[in-house]
Amino acid sequence: MSKKIDLDDAYNIQTPADNVKLYAKWAASYDVDFAKSTDYILPQQVAQVVHDFSATGTVLDVGAGTGLLGQALYKLGSYDIDATDISPEMLQTAQRKNIYRRLFISDVTKGMGVGNKTYDVTASSGTFTHGHVGPEAIAELLRVTKDGGTVVISVNTAFWHKNGFEAAINEISPHVRSIEIRPVAIYGAAATGAHARDEAFIVIIQT
Ligand SMILES: C[S@@+](CC[C@H](N)C(=O)[O-])C[C@H]1O[C@@H](n2cnc3c(N)ncnc32)[C@H](O)[C@@H]1O
Repeated sequence: MSKKIDLDDAYNIQTPADNVKLYAKWAASYDVDFAKSTDYILPQQVAQVVHDFSATGTVLDVGAGTGLLGQALYKLGSYDIDATDISPEMLQTAQRKNIYRRLFISDVTKGMGVGNKTYDVTASSGTFTHGHVGPEAIAELLRVTKDGGTVVISVNTAFWHKNGFEAAINEISPHVRSIEIRPVAIYGAAATGAHARDEAFIVIIQT
């Protein structure tokens, strides 16, 4: 029997092509083998922050995966939510949940193929992390967000320190209304193992 995919496999990949390959295999079991078994609460934390800043409107979920952030948002407010991801298989799993208005494949590091200033909120949970997407993609999220809108992303804290997020945020700062950073737990009280106490920053950028 082949070994189940886990977080360390996800953290050890490097390129967008690696992501496509890994998530093609992980899509069917991600919600149970990863999210449920690790008490993964980050999507709910990101959704709550989105709701704190905007209770309605159009939302783009970037790196939507199987749709956990969309599901959490759907419960909290009245949103029109679109999903984008580099993995067709992850988006197929998300589509079956019937919460997204539109789902489309894109590589956020190369451009999402969406017009400027399209969404009230652009949000992302769990995608700015080891082996996935770095600070260079924040500009693309800002580009598709309306003036007066909000970008809400989680960034794994260890990844933040290794990958120049602070410099990227300092560069953006003069061009936006406000930036706030909130530390949160990625996993809940039931989590065990090496990553159980891992944390993320939720970055809130008001455009
Ligand atoms: C850890 S999962 C998070 C999924 C979901 N947001 C959640 O919190 O459960 C990371 C997701 O980012 C996607 N991803 C990785 N690189 C990407 C890229 N360059 N462009 C768009 N999506 C990407 C993966 O396919 C995967 O679905």
